[in-house]
Amino acid sequence: MQPVRIAPSILSADFARLGEEVRAIDEAGADWIHVDVMDGHFVPNISFGPAVMKAIRPVTTKPFDVHLMIAPVDRYLDAFAEAGADCITVHVEAGPHIHRSIQHIKSLGKRAGVVINPGTPAKMLDYLIDMVDLVLVMSVNPGFGGQHFIDSQLKKIAAIRKMIDASGRAIDLEVDGGVDPVTAPRCIAAGADALVAGTAVFRGGPSAYAANIAALRGHG
Ligand code: DX5
Ligand code: ZN
Repeated sequence: MQPVRIAPSILSADFARLGEEVRAIDEAGADWIHVDVMDGHFVPNISFGPAVMKAIRPVTTKPFDVHLMIAPVDRYLDAFAEAGADCITVHVEAGPHIHRSIQHIKSLGKRAGVVINPGTPAKMLDYLIDMVDLVLVMSVNPGFGGQHFIDSQLKKIAAIRKMIDASGRAIDLEVDGGVDPVTAPRCIAAGADALVAGTAVFRGGPSAYAANIAALRGHG
């Protein structure tokens, strides 16, 4: 397993200064930029779409890790690919044809990820593990930043780590929701190798970002 990658979620950034915020987390050591797209239908909140993502794309060369909370999602995949996504991650719960969605993302030449919600079993990955590049485990119910980590997801992270290792494929195992310096080491111990964090990165303002990111790596 490689060292943990930290993916700050720009959902917690100051939207009035979004470009500066992306530059600041890049300089503070972010590995990926996590882009949370919410449609007000699949989740009870609305964030932003591909035009906003495209506007911040030139600000950094770090990979854009795009988490689509959209249903049905397929009609938007091309737009996010064109707007500069590096990895596009879709929920198994967001439509009847997750296998087709993953095929579509791969056909666009992008890394493909699959997300499972807290109430969704790891078993949903059985027939996807041979084609995805990333599995994202939600450790909160999606829709909002600043929620509490759901402990029961640690068991699922460990189960998926076993599935990934058994597959022999290079698949990132990412955790999203309530990740902070207390829960991060528990996720890593369970087998995660990428962590999304909004609140725990952006609190304290730009002068705190580097220390906040280091603390999530366990270098606090
Ligand atoms: C939730 C989003 C998360 C969220 C993380 O739907 O997918 O990325 O913004 O925020 P924190 O780290 O504050 O829980
Ligand atoms: Zn997310």
